[in-house]
Amino acid sequence: MSSTPPLPAHPFRVRHPGDGLGAPAPLDLIVEGSAFGSGTHPTTMSCLEVLAALAPLEGLRVLDLGSGTGILGLAALRLGAAGALCVDVNPEAVASSLRSGEANGLADRLSHRAGTASDLAGEAFDLVVANIGGELLIDEAACVAPLARRGGRLLLSGVLSGYAADLQAAYAAQGCRVVERRFPGACCTILMTRG
Ligand SMILES: C[S@@+](CC[C@H](N)C(=O)[O-])C[C@H]1O[C@@H](n2cnc3c(N)ncnc32)[C@H](O)[C@@H]1O
Repeated sequence: MSSTPPLPAHPFRVRHPGDGLGAPAPLDLIVEGSAFGSGTHPTTMSCLEVLAALAPLEGLRVLDLGSGTGILGLAALRLGAAGALCVDVNPEAVASSLRSGEANGLADRLSHRAGTASDLAGEAFDLVVANIGGELLIDEAACVAPLARRGGRLLLSGVLSGYAADLQAAYAAQGCRVVERRFPGACCTILMTRG
């Protein structure tokens, strides 16, 4: 399966609370380390690159599904999103994204919920970002796809590259069209629009 031409490295500086570097700069992402999402994993970096290429995200409402530290939701806010909702099944991750929002001075625009896609049924976002390993994003496509409004976008990552065709097919069946795809590490990152 072909990959879209490479993007420049993402422009964010990932930091940690108490690193002594002072107040966050406009593209700093301060994440605390008790959940997944330190910024070093290839899938996270790939999502950050695609998000940066989509900027500006002025006024958009973003869902960060499988949010871990909240790094992708924070990145969306740094790029102008009006608000981001972090959702994770792991309560420790929810606590982590909450602390990240506060550390970045973005707590008023970053909200948090423990749960999964099915808990959000009926809600719709301009942009859904989901970096989740395993086959959940394939198995739950009928639940995840409608979380993007019609004309909205989904940025999906974490699925092994060998399942990229299955991921695409599952979302095509929900009316989504692939815009670009990348293969960070052993995984795929796919940007789609929902028709
Ligand atoms: C690979 S980490 C991604 C963290 C962060 N978004 C990033 O890109 O670095 C996946 C996250 O998804 C969460 N997760 C796993 N299954 C989930 C599900 N069914 N619904 C919501 N979150 C889930 C995990 O707890 C974990 O925090």
